Amino acid sequence: MESKLRSLFHDPEYYTKSFHCYAALSAKFSVLANWGETVFGEAVVDKIKVTLGENEELRVLGIGSGSGEMDMQMLTKLLRRFPLINNRVVEPALDQLVKYKALAQSEAHDLHGVLTCDWRQQTIDQYEKAGDSRQFHFISSIHSIYYVDDVDRSLMYLYDRLDPGGILLVVTVSDDSGFWRLWNHFPSFQDSLMTFTNSSHIRGSLERRGIPCTQYHQRSRVEITQCFDEASEEGALVVDFLTHVVKLKETAPAQLYKEVIEYLGSDHCSEKSADDVLFNNDWDAVVVCKPVD
Ligand SMILES: C[S@@+](CC[C@H](N)C(=O)[O-])C[C@H]1O[C@@H](n2cnc3c(N)ncnc32)[C@H](O)[C@@H]1O
Repeated sequence: MESKLRSLFHDPEYYTKSFHCYAALSAKFSVLANWGETVFGEAVVDKIKVTLGENEELRVLGIGSGSGEMDMQMLTKLLRRFPLINNRVVEPALDQLVKYKALAQSEAHDLHGVLTCDWRQQTIDQYEKAGDSRQFHFISSIHSIYYVDDVDRSLMYLYDRLDPGGILLVVTVSDDSGFWRLWNHFPSFQDSLMTFTNSSHIRGSLERRGIPCTQYHQRSRVEITQCFDEASEEGALVVDFLTHVVKLKETAPAQLYKEVIEYLGSDHCSEKSADDVLFNNDWDAVVVCKPVD
Protein backbone atom coordinates (compact mmCIF):
# COMPACT_ATOMS: atom_id res chain seq x y z
CA MET A 1 0.00 0.00 0.00
CA GLU A 2 1.34 3.49 -0.90
CA SER A 3 2.82 5.08 2.21
CA LYS A 4 -0.02 7.51 3.06
CA LEU A 5 -2.86 5.11 2.27
CA ARG A 6 -4.36 3.14 5.15
CA SER A 7 -6.24 -0.12 4.75
CA LEU A 8 -9.78 -0.12 6.17
CA PHE A 9 -8.58 -2.68 8.69
CA HIS A 10 -6.53 -0.12 10.53
CA ASP A 11 -9.83 1.56 11.37
CA PRO A 12 -12.49 -1.05 12.24
CA GLU A 13 -15.19 1.58 12.92
CA TYR A 14 -14.65 3.14 9.53
CA TYR A 15 -14.63 -0.32 7.95
CA THR A 16 -18.07 -1.06 9.40
CA LYS A 17 -19.42 2.35 8.35
CA SER A 18 -18.27 1.97 4.75
CA PHE A 19 -19.35 -1.69 4.58
CA HIS A 20 -22.88 -0.86 5.73
CA CYS A 21 -23.07 2.02 3.28
CA TYR A 22 -22.18 -0.38 0.45
CA ALA A 23 -24.44 -3.14 1.81
CA ALA A 24 -27.39 -0.72 1.88
CA LEU A 25 -26.81 0.33 -1.72
CA SER A 26 -26.42 -3.23 -2.90
CA ALA A 27 -29.55 -4.46 -1.11
CA LYS A 28 -26.99 -7.07 -0.06
CA PHE A 29 -29.08 -8.70 2.55
CA SER A 30 -32.18 -9.08 0.39
CA VAL A 31 -30.11 -10.72 -2.37
CA LEU A 32 -28.63 -13.03 0.22
CA ALA A 33 -32.08 -13.67 1.68
CA ASN A 34 -33.28 -14.75 -1.74
CA TRP A 35 -30.22 -16.93 -2.13
CA GLY A 36 -30.93 -18.39 1.30
CA GLU A 37 -34.43 -19.31 0.18
CA THR A 38 -33.27 -20.98 -3.02
CA VAL A 39 -29.70 -22.21 -3.52
CA PHE A 40 -28.79 -22.54 0.18
CA GLY A 41 -31.54 -25.10 0.80
CA GLU A 42 -30.39 -27.44 -1.95
CA ALA A 43 -26.66 -26.79 -1.80
CA VAL A 44 -26.25 -26.90 1.96
CA VAL A 45 -29.26 -27.83 4.12
CA ASP A 46 -30.25 -30.91 2.12
CA LYS A 47 -26.62 -32.04 1.78
CA ILE A 48 -25.63 -32.14 5.46
CA LYS A 49 -25.28 -35.85 6.21
CA VAL A 50 -25.50 -36.18 9.96
CA THR A 51 -27.66 -38.25 12.24
CA LEU A 52 -28.29 -36.43 15.50
CA GLY A 53 -29.64 -37.95 18.70
CA GLU A 54 -32.96 -36.63 20.10
CA ASN A 55 -31.37 -33.89 22.20
CA GLU A 56 -28.26 -33.41 20.13
CA GLU A 57 -27.54 -30.02 18.62
CA LEU A 58 -26.33 -29.29 15.12
CA ARG A 59 -23.00 -27.53 15.65
CA VAL A 60 -22.54 -24.46 13.48
CA LEU A 61 -19.53 -22.13 13.16
CA GLY A 62 -19.74 -18.66 11.59
CA ILE A 63 -16.49 -16.90 10.65
CA GLY A 64 -16.59 -13.10 10.27
CA SER A 65 -20.37 -13.07 10.61
CA GLY A 66 -20.58 -9.27 10.95
CA SER A 67 -23.95 -8.11 12.28
CA GLY A 68 -25.45 -11.50 11.49
CA GLU A 69 -28.05 -10.76 8.81
CA MET A 70 -26.77 -13.45 6.47
CA ASP A 71 -26.06 -15.97 9.22
CA MET A 72 -29.55 -15.55 10.68
CA GLN A 73 -31.04 -16.25 7.24
CA MET A 74 -29.05 -19.45 7.02
CA LEU A 75 -29.78 -20.49 10.61
CA THR A 76 -33.51 -19.93 10.11
CA LYS A 77 -33.40 -22.27 7.15
CA LEU A 78 -31.25 -24.85 8.96
CA LEU A 79 -33.58 -24.87 11.99
CA ARG A 80 -36.38 -26.22 9.83
CA ARG A 81 -34.41 -29.44 9.40
CA PHE A 82 -32.36 -29.38 12.63
CA PRO A 83 -34.50 -27.94 15.45
CA LEU A 84 -31.63 -27.66 17.95
CA ILE A 85 -28.63 -25.60 16.88
CA ASN A 86 -25.54 -24.43 18.71
CA ASN A 87 -24.08 -21.51 16.78
CA ARG A 88 -20.53 -20.41 17.53
CA VAL A 89 -19.70 -16.99 16.12
CA VAL A 90 -16.10 -15.87 15.54
CA GLU A 91 -16.13 -12.15 14.76
CA PRO A 92 -13.42 -9.66 15.82
CA ALA A 93 -15.49 -6.44 15.69
CA LEU A 94 -17.29 -5.83 18.99
CA ASP A 95 -19.90 -3.47 17.53
CA GLN A 96 -20.81 -6.13 14.96
CA LEU A 97 -21.19 -8.78 17.66
CA VAL A 98 -23.44 -6.47 19.68
CA LYS A 99 -25.68 -5.99 16.64
CA TYR A 100 -25.71 -9.72 15.88
CA LYS A 101 -26.73 -10.53 19.49
CA ALA A 102 -29.59 -8.02 19.28
CA LEU A 103 -30.74 -9.49 15.96
CA ALA A 104 -30.62 -13.07 17.28
CA GLN A 105 -32.61 -12.00 20.34
CA SER A 106 -35.23 -10.14 18.32
CA GLU A 107 -35.77 -13.13 16.01
CA ALA A 108 -35.67 -15.86 18.69
CA HIS A 109 -39.47 -16.10 19.03
CA ASP A 110 -40.08 -16.63 15.33
CA LEU A 111 -37.59 -19.43 14.87
CA HIS A 112 -38.75 -23.02 14.29
CA GLY A 113 -36.50 -24.47 16.95
CA VAL A 114 -33.97 -23.50 19.59
CA LEU A 115 -30.87 -21.52 18.73
CA THR A 116 -28.10 -21.22 21.30
CA CYS A 117 -25.26 -18.85 20.46
CA ASP A 118 -21.70 -18.85 21.68
CA TRP A 119 -19.91 -15.57 20.95
CA ARG A 120 -16.17 -15.22 20.37
CA GLN A 121 -14.72 -11.78 19.79
CA GLN A 122 -11.71 -13.04 17.84
CA THR A 123 -10.20 -13.25 14.39
CA ILE A 124 -10.10 -16.70 12.88
CA ASP A 125 -6.34 -16.79 13.50
CA GLN A 126 -6.82 -15.98 17.18
CA TYR A 127 -9.53 -18.62 17.39
CA GLU A 128 -7.23 -21.20 15.78
CA LYS A 129 -4.36 -20.31 18.14
CA ALA A 130 -6.65 -20.69 21.16
CA GLY A 131 -6.67 -24.38 20.19
CA ASP A 132 -10.33 -25.34 20.64
CA SER A 133 -10.77 -28.76 19.07
CA ARG A 134 -14.56 -28.69 18.67
CA GLN A 135 -15.87 -30.15 15.40
CA PHE A 136 -18.82 -28.69 13.46
CA HIS A 137 -21.51 -29.87 11.06
CA PHE A 138 -21.71 -26.59 9.17
CA ILE A 139 -19.09 -23.84 8.85
CA SER A 140 -19.54 -20.64 6.87
CA SER A 141 -17.28 -17.76 5.92
CA ILE A 142 -19.28 -15.16 4.02
CA HIS A 143 -17.03 -12.49 2.52
CA SER A 144 -14.55 -12.81 5.40
CA ILE A 145 -11.78 -15.11 4.13
CA TYR A 146 -10.03 -12.04 2.58
CA TYR A 147 -8.99 -10.98 6.07
CA VAL A 148 -7.19 -14.06 7.37
CA ASP A 149 -3.39 -14.28 7.66
CA ASP A 150 -3.04 -17.14 5.18
CA VAL A 151 -6.02 -18.16 3.03
CA ASP A 152 -4.75 -21.69 2.22
CA ARG A 153 -3.99 -22.47 5.82
CA SER A 154 -7.30 -21.13 7.12
CA LEU A 155 -9.26 -23.08 4.51
CA MET A 156 -7.55 -26.29 5.60
CA TYR A 157 -8.08 -25.40 9.25
CA LEU A 158 -11.81 -24.94 8.62
CA TYR A 159 -11.99 -28.17 6.61
CA ASP A 160 -10.30 -30.03 9.47
CA ARG A 161 -12.85 -28.62 11.92
CA LEU A 162 -15.69 -30.28 9.95
CA ASP A 163 -17.30 -33.50 11.10
CA PRO A 164 -17.61 -36.15 8.35
CA GLY A 165 -20.86 -35.42 6.51
CA GLY A 166 -20.55 -31.72 7.36
CA ILE A 167 -20.40 -28.76 4.98
CA LEU A 168 -18.06 -25.80 4.53
CA LEU A 169 -19.46 -22.76 2.69
CA VAL A 170 -17.08 -20.01 1.54
CA VAL A 171 -18.47 -16.95 -0.24
CA THR A 172 -16.12 -14.54 -2.02
CA VAL A 173 -16.17 -12.15 -4.96
CA SER A 174 -16.08 -13.86 -8.38
CA ASP A 175 -12.92 -13.90 -10.47
CA ASP A 176 -14.62 -11.76 -13.14
CA SER A 177 -16.31 -9.32 -10.73
CA GLY A 178 -15.67 -5.58 -10.59
CA PHE A 179 -14.19 -6.02 -7.12
CA TRP A 180 -11.63 -8.48 -8.37
CA ARG A 181 -10.72 -6.38 -11.44
CA LEU A 182 -10.37 -3.25 -9.28
CA TRP A 183 -8.18 -4.96 -6.66
CA ASN A 184 -6.10 -6.62 -9.34
CA HIS A 185 -5.60 -3.34 -11.19
CA PHE A 186 -4.51 -1.48 -8.03
CA PRO A 187 -2.49 -4.12 -6.15
CA SER A 188 -0.89 -1.49 -3.94
CA PHE A 189 -4.21 -1.13 -2.07
CA GLN A 190 -3.60 -4.53 -0.52
CA ASP A 191 -1.75 -4.56 2.76
CA SER A 192 -0.72 -7.03 5.41
CA LEU A 193 -4.22 -7.17 6.90
CA MET A 194 -5.90 -8.37 3.74
CA THR A 195 -5.24 -10.80 0.89
CA PHE A 196 -7.15 -9.94 -2.25
CA THR A 197 -8.88 -13.25 -2.93
CA ASN A 198 -11.51 -14.50 -5.38
CA SER A 199 -13.44 -17.72 -5.81
CA SER A 200 -10.94 -19.25 -8.23
CA HIS A 201 -8.29 -19.00 -5.47
CA ILE A 202 -10.60 -20.86 -3.11
CA ARG A 203 -11.36 -23.58 -5.67
CA GLY A 204 -7.66 -23.84 -6.61
CA SER A 205 -6.59 -24.17 -2.99
CA LEU A 206 -9.10 -26.98 -2.37
CA GLU A 207 -8.37 -28.74 -5.66
CA ARG A 208 -4.62 -28.76 -5.00
CA ARG A 209 -5.39 -30.78 -1.87
CA GLY A 210 -7.76 -33.12 -3.69
CA ILE A 211 -10.86 -31.73 -1.95
CA PRO A 212 -13.85 -31.62 -4.33
CA CYS A 213 -16.11 -28.57 -4.23
CA THR A 214 -19.11 -27.16 -6.07
CA GLN A 215 -19.44 -23.52 -7.06
CA TYR A 216 -22.71 -21.56 -7.25
CA HIS A 217 -22.43 -18.28 -9.15
CA GLN A 218 -24.56 -15.28 -8.15
CA ARG A 219 -24.95 -12.37 -10.53
CA SER A 220 -25.28 -9.03 -8.73
CA ARG A 221 -25.19 -5.38 -9.81
CA VAL A 222 -24.89 -2.39 -7.47
CA GLU A 223 -25.77 1.15 -8.44
CA ILE A 224 -22.71 3.24 -7.60
CA THR A 225 -23.56 6.39 -9.57
CA GLN A 226 -22.90 8.59 -6.54
CA CYS A 227 -19.24 7.54 -6.52
CA PHE A 228 -18.86 9.87 -9.52
CA ASP A 229 -20.41 12.84 -7.71
CA GLU A 230 -17.48 14.73 -6.15
CA ALA A 231 -19.82 16.23 -3.53
CA SER A 232 -21.35 12.96 -2.34
CA GLU A 233 -20.16 11.80 1.10
CA GLU A 234 -21.93 8.48 0.63
CA GLY A 235 -20.24 8.06 -2.74
CA ALA A 236 -16.82 8.62 -1.13
CA LEU A 237 -17.59 6.00 1.55
CA VAL A 238 -18.56 3.51 -1.13
CA VAL A 239 -15.30 4.17 -3.03
CA ASP A 240 -13.49 3.50 0.25
CA PHE A 241 -15.24 0.18 0.72
CA LEU A 242 -14.61 -0.85 -2.89
CA THR A 243 -10.89 -0.06 -2.64
CA HIS A 244 -10.63 -1.00 1.06
CA VAL A 245 -8.74 2.24 1.71
CA VAL A 246 -9.64 4.78 4.41
CA LYS A 247 -10.59 8.17 2.87
CA LEU A 248 -9.01 7.46 -0.48
CA LYS A 249 -10.11 10.81 -1.89
CA GLU A 250 -8.33 12.74 0.85
CA THR A 251 -5.21 10.60 1.15
CA ALA A 252 -4.35 9.43 -2.38
CA PRO A 253 -2.49 11.62 -4.88
CA ALA A 254 -5.08 13.37 -7.11
CA GLN A 255 -3.88 11.48 -10.20
CA LEU A 256 -4.28 8.08 -8.51
CA TYR A 257 -7.77 8.96 -7.27
CA LYS A 258 -8.73 10.05 -10.79
CA GLU A 259 -7.47 6.75 -12.20
CA VAL A 260 -9.47 4.78 -9.63
CA ILE A 261 -12.68 6.65 -10.45
CA GLU A 262 -12.12 6.22 -14.19
CA TYR A 263 -11.40 2.52 -13.80
CA LEU A 264 -14.45 2.05 -11.55
CA GLY A 265 -16.69 3.60 -14.21
CA SER A 266 -15.07 1.68 -17.09
CA ASP A 267 -16.53 -1.51 -18.51
CA HIS A 268 -13.86 -3.49 -16.66
CA CYS A 269 -15.84 -2.92 -13.47
CA SER A 270 -19.26 -1.53 -14.35
CA GLU A 271 -22.12 -1.31 -16.84
CA LYS A 272 -24.09 1.79 -17.80
CA SER A 273 -27.89 1.81 -17.66
CA ALA A 274 -29.35 5.17 -18.78
CA ASP A 275 -27.66 7.62 -16.36
CA ASP A 276 -26.77 4.98 -13.79
CA VAL A 277 -23.49 3.18 -13.26
CA LEU A 278 -23.93 -0.44 -12.18
CA PHE A 279 -20.95 -2.07 -10.51
CA ASN A 280 -20.36 -5.76 -11.19
CA ASN A 281 -20.71 -7.26 -7.70
CA ASP A 282 -20.88 -10.92 -8.80
CA TRP A 283 -19.98 -13.43 -6.12
CA ASP A 284 -19.60 -17.17 -5.79
CA ALA A 285 -20.46 -19.66 -3.12
CA VAL A 286 -18.00 -22.55 -2.92
CA VAL A 287 -19.47 -25.55 -1.12
CA VAL A 288 -17.43 -28.46 0.23
CA CYS A 289 -19.09 -31.62 1.58
CA LYS A 290 -16.75 -33.62 3.82
CA PRO A 291 -17.16 -37.31 2.96
CA VAL A 292 -18.59 -39.63 5.57
CA ASP A 293 -15.82 -42.10 6.50
C1 LIG B 1 -17.55 -7.91 4.48
S1 LIG B 1 -17.91 -8.22 6.17
C2 LIG B 1 -19.04 -9.57 5.98
C3 LIG B 1 -19.97 -9.73 7.15
C4 LIG B 1 -21.01 -10.84 7.00
N1 LIG B 1 -20.40 -12.16 6.86
C5 LIG B 1 -21.92 -10.54 5.82
O1 LIG B 1 -21.80 -11.21 4.78
O2 LIG B 1 -22.75 -9.65 5.95
C6 LIG B 1 -16.44 -9.02 6.78
C7 LIG B 1 -16.46 -9.40 8.26
O3 LIG B 1 -15.26 -10.13 8.57
C8 LIG B 1 -14.80 -9.70 9.84
N2 LIG B 1 -13.37 -9.97 9.94
C9 LIG B 1 -12.33 -9.15 9.69
N3 LIG B 1 -11.16 -9.75 9.90
C10 LIG B 1 -11.44 -11.02 10.28
C11 LIG B 1 -10.63 -12.14 10.64
N4 LIG B 1 -9.32 -12.07 10.61
N5 LIG B 1 -11.26 -13.27 11.01
C12 LIG B 1 -12.62 -13.35 11.02
N6 LIG B 1 -13.43 -12.31 10.66
C13 LIG B 1 -12.85 -11.17 10.29
C14 LIG B 1 -15.14 -8.20 9.86
O4 LIG B 1 -15.16 -7.68 11.16
C15 LIG B 1 -16.50 -8.20 9.17
O5 LIG B 1 -17.54 -8.36 10.10
